[in-house]
Amino acid sequence: MTKAVTEAWGAGSAQGKAAKRRQRYPTLAYLEKTARRRVPRFAFDFVEAGTGGHLGVRHNREALDGIQIVPRYGAAASVSTDVELFGMRYATPIGIAPVGTDGLIWPGATLALAHTAATARIPYIVGTLASASLETVASICPDSFWFQLYGLPAKDHAVSFDLLKRAAAAGAHALVVTLDAPVRPKRPKDMRNGLVVPFRPTPRTVFDVASSPLWALQLLKAGTPGFPNVERYLGTKPTLAASAGFVQREIKGTFSWDEMRRLRDQWPRALVVKGVLHPGDAEQAIAIGADGVLVSNHGGRQSDAAPPAIDVLPGIVAAVGTKTTVLFDSGIQSGLDAMRALALGAQAVFCGRAFLFGLGALGDSGSDYVADLLADELRVAMAQHGVATFGQLRNAERRHPSAFRFKNGTPPV
Ligand SMILES: Cc1cc2nc3c(=O)[nH]c(=O)nc-3n(C[C@H](O)[C@H](O)[C@H](O)COP(=O)(O)O)c2cc1C
Repeated sequence: MTKAVTEAWGAGSAQGKAAKRRQRYPTLAYLEKTARRRVPRFAFDFVEAGTGGHLGVRHNREALDGIQIVPRYGAAASVSTDVELFGMRYATPIGIAPVGTDGLIWPGATLALAHTAATARIPYIVGTLASASLETVASICPDSFWFQLYGLPAKDHAVSFDLLKRAAAAGAHALVVTLDAPVRPKRPKDMRNGLVVPFRPTPRTVFDVASSPLWALQLLKAGTPGFPNVERYLGTKPTLAASAGFVQREIKGTFSWDEMRRLRDQWPRALVVKGVLHPGDAEQAIAIGADGVLVSNHGGRQSDAAPPAIDVLPGIVAAVGTKTTVLFDSGIQSGLDAMRALALGAQAVFCGRAFLFGLGALGDSGSDYVADLLADELRVAMAQHGVATFGQLRNAERRHPSAFRFKNGTPPV
């Protein structure tokens, strides 16, 4: 075969493979179903589960489904989805949310996510508990790299401040401080699966791993997932059990506003407060000098009684939308969902589970696939609704029946 023929054949087969994937996985729901089959149950459950009775997850879904946007026709719309956030331009306002212990659903997940962020030109908020170090991620996707910080309050937050310094030195464009995990919530599925510290494998766990050959092979290749961002603070050579114990003991998933102010004083670039559900907390974030708030209920993983994050978004945008950058996550499963949140005033949205399900279903290339899928769906949804820009989208007529009405708050539009 000549070189040209070989290349043409190669391109053809790559295109054929891509088309086949599109056919097999037209939406995220199909990826989720495949991931459920390919990944050991304890790992899939860890990612999928909410807290308690899974109500938070269900309510996020129902609230998003209830939002309707009225299309307008007649103006040819050439859709533009690029967006500027904190001085950086991104191709699409759909970024990757921080997901701790991500290596459970796909060993090596953090590295795959970093490559996706670089290729798709989208922001990636790397978690304190990611399965690769923040420095490694920064070297793979320098333009997309944001860092999520959990509180480690021992010794007056010595480790938190060291992580902050490392993230600054590695060039993180934003520090995203998580506020909404003051306690470890009860996750019944994790308890039933023995996914507790110390890890207690059951015969069922062993059976699940043995029945997930692709995942088991990847585990051998990528190694057991750990917590490389915090391992250096353990003193001795860390074992996984010691790291997990440290994480369990030392991490408190929140900061007081005074502590946030101290972080603000030391952080040189954009500061975002994650986990905001009340306009009053958004105002507090602005008062301590934050540049943005991430409206989120942690994907329904913290409290079944918290409102769907999308339902509080309009009230928060009404209160602080002209003063700060409002970002959103929790429940986004399609480009259409992203359009709904952007119509309600979010400047960008983030997804946690969507990217992880892609990895669990398709391996390393799964997060690239999800980034493309969501971006395509967003473009199609905007074109269908006759909006070419996010400005036009925000002005579209919409109905949001479950929008939350805050006491003394500006009524949501
Ligand atoms: C498996 C998993 C781990 C998570 N770990 C963290 C974390 O370490 N820090 C954090 O701020 N949020 C964490 N989150 C919450 C996400 O950042 C995000 O708020 C949530 O996933 C958004 O909802 P979605 O999964 O429906 O997109 C985690 C979410 C999942 C699913």
